Amino acid sequence: MKVSVIGTGYVGLATTTVFADLGNEVIGADIDKGKIEGLNKGIMPIFEPGLKELVERNIKEKRLRFTHNNKEAIEHGEVIFICVGTPPKENWETELKYVENVAVEIAKNMKSYKVIVHKSTVPVETGDKVKKIIEDNAGRNVEFDVVSNPEFLREGTAVEDTLHPDRIVVGVGSEKAKEIMKKLYEPIKAPLIITDIRSAELIKHASNAFLATKISFINSVAKICELSEADVEKVAEGMGYDKRIARDFLNAGIGYGGFCFPKDSQAFIKIAEKYGYDYKLLKATNEINEEQKKNFVKKVKSTLKDVSGKKIGVLGLSFKPNTDDMRFAPSIYIIEELQKEGGKIKAYDPEAMEKAKEVLNDVEYYKDPYKVCEGADCLLILTEWNEFKELDLEKIKSLLKIPLIIDGRNIYNPEDMRKHGFSYISIGRKDVLGIRPAPTP
Ligand code: UGA
Repeated sequence: MKVSVIGTGYVGLATTTVFADLGNEVIGADIDKGKIEGLNKGIMPIFEPGLKELVERNIKEKRLRFTHNNKEAIEHGEVIFICVGTPPKENWETELKYVENVAVEIAKNMKSYKVIVHKSTVPVETGDKVKKIIEDNAGRNVEFDVVSNPEFLREGTAVEDTLHPDRIVVGVGSEKAKEIMKKLYEPIKAPLIITDIRSAELIKHASNAFLATKISFINSVAKICELSEADVEKVAEGMGYDKRIARDFLNAGIGYGGFCFPKDSQAFIKIAEKYGYDYKLLKATNEINEEQKKNFVKKVKSTLKDVSGKKIGVLGLSFKPNTDDMRFAPSIYIIEELQKEGGKIKAYDPEAMEKAKEVLNDVEYYKDPYKVCEGADCLLILTEWNEFKELDLEKIKSLLKIPLIIDGRNIYNPEDMRKHGFSYISIGRKDVLGIRPAPTP
């Protein structure tokens, strides 16, 4: 099938490459010329495991190409995916102008029947808006259908999630569009949920809101664990065996970040507000998430007594492992707060340091995690990269000025840390307290 994808961010790139790999003729379009030139040469604008190989293979086998000319893409595809950004406005409502602009462009350039699919996360009723824009701008009597096909991929596993999704959701308003979408998705073995457009749009927001709430739920339980000297890891394990609850997304930490949960949960509150509903539960989810970062800073401050002049080593900057994405990363707030108190930050992240430099000031970056530990008054873990779990703890202990680790992701076992002679403070678990930091001279 001829497929076009407009917008080559995380969602757009995964969509182009996976549909090309399934044997379709795909064009990916983006207005960013530099990005397109790079992509055609196999240079990826983002770090995403497996993406580069898949793009290169499909370009080589001539199923995939990229253009900065949206018109060319619109003419090419029978199915056109809109994957442009839907960033938050200042008041957290969703900025739809990029989706709307593309809808106008499609209307003005389509010459035959098109299935126009919005894949970006959008408020309910966006499908109706897109339909109206196209009707108002098409000028000729060209047939089209609008479809909602929300994307559920996670950064860091974008390719894998697109090839093997838990489910595919397709919101349609016509039999013809339904059949085309079914055919397109036929090679992917996953439950296919066909519904109306508005329900499909809501499935996406409701799913992200639920996952964000699950994280805030366990983070609030972690707080109670800290107060009652219980262990949140055990509580999560015990809860997780109940199939109705499940262990996934019950990892306590420094709160969720990234470009999805923070903005989507706020946007969903705004959507509810428009319909006259006060979404108290989701408001609490966001508040708990904010508190989580603040609580972590409090832990660092109360352990170090005086942050001023202290060297603070940081391992992990990205909002989660296997991505270089720094958007809404909890590390930003935590580092900036500690800097305000006079803390000197030394940091290492396997992938995100270049992007971190764009948002953080006065951080010393190192290419080696052990260098971060050298002479530091404490070590903070802010992202749970696998390589941090494999570090030589004895070496870290010998390099740190004080053997103190404050772990925002619970990557180490407190008992092991005690045996290694660390003071170890984590989330929702009993502190391991050994040597106290020396007062600042
Ligand atoms: C999320 C959803 O998981 C995807 O299904 C969705 O498609 C995507 O948003 C989107 O809307 O585009 P993503 O933002 O890539 O994906 O990352 P997640 O793996 O969901 O993690 C989000 C945040 O929650 C991270 O900061 C992570 O550290 C945090 N988290 C996750 C926890 O603190 N605890 C957990 O147990 C799980």
